[in-house]
Amino acid sequence: MATQQAPKVLFVGSELSPFSKVGGLGDVVGSLPKALRQCGLDVRVVTPAWPGVLQKVRDAGHKITTSLQHVAVACAWQTAEATVHRIEVDDVPIWLLESNYYRGSMYPWELDVFTVRPFLVFCMQALELSKVTDWEPDIFHCHDWPTAYLPCALAWHRHYRGAVNRRGVRPASVLTLHNVAYQGAFPPGAFFEESGLDRSCFNMGGIEFYGLVNLLKGGIVSATAVTTVSPRYAWEIQTWESTQDLSGVIYSQRHKLDGILNGIDTDFWNPATDPLLPECYSADSLGGRQACRRELLKNTTFDPDWKGPLVVCVSRLVEQKGFDVILPALKQIPELGAKFIFLGSGHHWIEDALREASSLHRDSLCFFPGYNESLAHLLYAGGDIYLMPSLFEPCGLSQMIAMRYGAVPVVREVGGLVDTVTDVDAEGGGNGFTFLTYDTQGMLWSLRRAIERFSNARAWDKIRRRGMQEDFSWKKSALLYRDLYRRIL
Ligand code: ADP
Ligand code: GLC
Repeated sequence: MATQQAPKVLFVGSELSPFSKVGGLGDVVGSLPKALRQCGLDVRVVTPAWPGVLQKVRDAGHKITTSLQHVAVACAWQTAEATVHRIEVDDVPIWLLESNYYRGSMYPWELDVFTVRPFLVFCMQALELSKVTDWEPDIFHCHDWPTAYLPCALAWHRHYRGAVNRRGVRPASVLTLHNVAYQGAFPPGAFFEESGLDRSCFNMGGIEFYGLVNLLKGGIVSATAVTTVSPRYAWEIQTWESTQDLSGVIYSQRHKLDGILNGIDTDFWNPATDPLLPECYSADSLGGRQACRRELLKNTTFDPDWKGPLVVCVSRLVEQKGFDVILPALKQIPELGAKFIFLGSGHHWIEDALREASSLHRDSLCFFPGYNESLAHLLYAGGDIYLMPSLFEPCGLSQMIAMRYGAVPVVREVGGLVDTVTDVDAEGGGNGFTFLTYDTQGMLWSLRRAIERFSNARAWDKIRRRGMQEDFSWKKSALLYRDLYRRIL
């Protein structure tokens, strides 16, 4: 045991909600530290100040303290410096690193030795941070490929391998896998000369995967512990049937793998207090939901007095989210007896298909392109059915948010969707509608069941309330992380 005190944990995250968020990873880095601190742990966060982040922080009224000392690391024969800003949100200390390396868009379209540099620099700056603060972590908790370089550096970097802290103890690392489909892989080129990683780790037991540098694989192999965001996904990513090809590597590291279900920040995602809703409501008093529905309909091309089911979807527009099965169903939408609203951004071919379908079926399909936080809240609050027929889903937060807001999910039985949604027709009754086979017919079968059930107001009310009363908070999972931290020290 390195310390008798509560473990000190530094979350190293490339995204942080609400200041920089692409998807659920940002939500997790923005909410789990708060829950862990409520369990008595000393957890803090470091994240890059991507363009616009400092402004958002100021707009939200947070006081920024800037350190006089810079944090500096070596990368590609240059010194990469960052200004260290500190804020506190919900009692969580957060360091925002401002550097020339974080001036571009967050994630590059293509990864190579140049575009990967901001992420290498960020990980090394996180390792050096204690030199300019009065606080030193026992554990670095990293998230997905953008910060998977940190455990690699602790294992194989000429300068950081074998590093010990001021008490003479080696820090531990945890790598959480939010999505194994993104691995941070690229041809090695001058990577080893530039990064300082010892080339001898470019092998099957190290960072190499099919001739490429693979940061996620390196992180999985070198981290002290690996977690993933639902028990079901932890099992799926070890099997050969999974869509991701790191299954062999993950299976070989299963002794240090845990599947811990994500939670959501139930203070932020709370229909009873949500400032982005026109009217608040709760499971006991659903009245305000009508106002949300009216406000939502006003934003669409639909009849504002529509009383039938409203199917909603807030999503990154990528294959993972099931658009291969959704798009072929769009032509049948007018016959389904429901109206559909999609909000999202992503691949152009998906955006184009949704745009075209919405102009063909103006009174039954509406598409809002882009990322829009307040509209997302309105969709969860005004929608009746939440559609999420994912091809794979490490956890999924949207279905939990939807249930908390009273929209009943229609999901595929995969990943974290299995751990959070049970079919209403299963024994004991459930909180949503599920299907297994990844095809349009399967999805439509469950969607039709949901639409039909909606017409029975009493039955629907029961299902909706069951979802709204589920405990999707971090409480249980934070304790599992606490046990894990204690175990590895
Ligand atoms: P993933 O991380 O794979 O995108 P999750 O369900 O875990 O999926 O989390 C998605 C998060 O991003 C949710 O908080 C969801 O509300 C939000 N989100 C996704 N797309 C949009 C969008 N276009 N506008 C606003 N919020 C969005
Ligand atoms: C990823 C996954 C999603 C998960 C989120 C947060 O983006 O796609 O399923 O909920 O990370 O862990």
